[in-house]
Formats: sequence, structure tokens, C-alpha cells
Amino acid sequence: MKFDIYLNKIFCGDALEILKTLPDEFVDLGITSPPYNKGENKKGWLVKNIKYAGAVDNLPEEEYQRIQVEVLDELYRIIKPGGSFFYNHKLRWERGIMIHPMDWLRKTKWIIRQEIIWDRGIAGNIRGWRFWQVDERIYWLYKPKGNNLIGEELKSKHALLTSIWRLPPETENPHPAPFPIELPTRIIYSLLDDRKGIVIDPYCGSGTTLVAAKLLGHDYIGIDISKEYVLYAEKRLKECAKEKKRVLEELSKHNVKETFRERKEKGKYTGPYAPQKQRGKLF
Ligand SMILES: C[S@@+](CC[C@H](N)C(=O)[O-])C[C@H]1O[C@@H](n2cnc3c(N)ncnc32)[C@H](O)[C@@H]1O
Repeated sequence: MKFDIYLNKIFCGDALEILKTLPDEFVDLGITSPPYNKGENKKGWLVKNIKYAGAVDNLPEEEYQRIQVEVLDELYRIIKPGGSFFYNHKLRWERGIMIHPMDWLRKTKWIIRQEIIWDRGIAGNIRGWRFWQVDERIYWLYKPKGNNLIGEELKSKHALLTSIWRLPPETENPHPAPFPIELPTRIIYSLLDDRKGIVIDPYCGSGTTLVAAKLLGHDYIGIDISKEYVLYAEKRLKECAKEKKRVLEELSKHNVKETFRERKEKGKYTGPYAPQKQRGKLF
């Protein structure tokens, strides 16, 4: 295949520079958690502050957002029409002013298809300026095919996992800010299902997205600026069989005995829209 030279590799370097060297419209799906520009001197209270080996996470906010828009637009070029990119980020505050990922996502070429709440259940900073922020966000960005801005439907077994993902943070990984393998596994399986595809992560860190893609039988492309993390991710990919159990556990959650429509047809409980008498004590 003419794209083989790019596949199942991790490129070490700046995400934007490397993305610019990749061809148009050959990738099916992307997932990433970029550096959050949190300022390395801000202290978490429960856990140590995040410091990457090989990158500074402390740009002027305007410059940070401009680079993120450029990176996302390069990904838009590389991903096929009908393809998607999942972008994990969080709400931040600077001197009391909220900085929301939507501030720059709306400046990109992508259609914002969904905002998913990632409920991590715990977070490092526990000061009382506001309610304890234990959530992050995952934006499902979509590249339309022709005039269709909506795209294909997910199978019910995936869609019924809902827009709130309760996944605890990763604890078995030496990288300072990894996501748990269940997160990219859920995305890849829901979007590609039994279709084989190419998955990219432009800030791949310890390689979590790539390991999930490999274990699910897909090709992958990773990028990270840190040589140390690239070497770790390559080792992890070689030994990925160890992580299969967690991937299979996530797949087992994609299971629906009766669809919403089937339950409705049988007059069974279907959530808030069930007949009053079936709502029970939930309401
Ligand atoms: C939040 S971490 C990603 C962690 C990853 N999801 C995982 O599970 O391990 C962000 C990564 O971006 C990398 N990074 C920072 N600046 C970069 C840049 N300009 N280009 C490419 N990678 C960069 C860091 O080295 C870090 O590994």
C-alpha cells in the first residue's frame, strides 16, 4: 500500500512539523490529549505537578491556542472525509477567567460532533475556589463527507455507553499524564467496530492510543517530541499482549441486550421518557 512507509511507527519531533509532512486524507481516526498549557509552576495539592521530558508546557495562551488550531487543521487535512478526531482537554482558569477548549475548537475546520464528559472521579487540585473539578472533556470532531454534516450512526452497543465516561485516571504508567487504555479502546472500537483502519495520535506520550489500536488490529501512527517517551512507547508496543486483558474488559462493556427502540416497543423502562408509572423511585 502506498502509505505503508508511514504506518506502525512513532515519529519523534514537533507534532505540527511532522503532520505537515504526511499525505492528504489517508487516516481514518485520530485521538489525542495534547499538553494543556497549564504552566509548570502551578502546584497541584494532591499529586505532583506535571512536567514533560523534552517540552515546556507554558506558552503565552494566545500562541498555544494558535498552535492547537494549526495542529487540528493539519489533522483535518490528513484524515479521510467521514473520519473523526477525538480531542481530550479540560477547562482551565487564568486569574479567575475561564479558558474553554471551545474557544479555539470553533476556529478549526472541524464539525464539533459531541462534547463528552470524562468523569475521572479524582483530580490533583483540591482548593475550594470552585467545586472540585474531577472532569475533563473529550471532543468528538468530525470531517464531513460531501454535504453530510451528521455522518453515520454508531451501533447501539457503542452509543448506549452515553456521553459521560466514568474512567479512573491511569496509575500503572511512568509517563506524567497518560490516559487509561480504556479511553482510546472505547473510541476506536465504537468508531471502527470490525473495520480495519489507520489511527493517529500526534501527542502520543507513552503510546496508549497506539497500543489500543494495535491490540484491536489497526495500523497506527504516533508522534511525540520526547525521545524518552518514544522509546518507552516502542517498548510498550512490543509487550502489548500484557495489556490485552484491560482492552477486552472495555470491549465487554459494548453490549446491549435490547435497544432503546426494542424496550420502547415492549413498553419497558427507557429512561426519563418512560411512562410515569414505570419511572419508579428514580424521579
Ligand atoms: C498529555 S501527554 C499525552 C499522553 C498520552 N495520551 C499517553 O497516554 O501517554 C502530552 C504529550 O505531548 C508531548 N508533546 C509536548 N509538546 C509537543 C510537541 N510540540 N509535539 C509533539 N509532542 C509534544 C509530551 O512529550 C507528552 O508526552
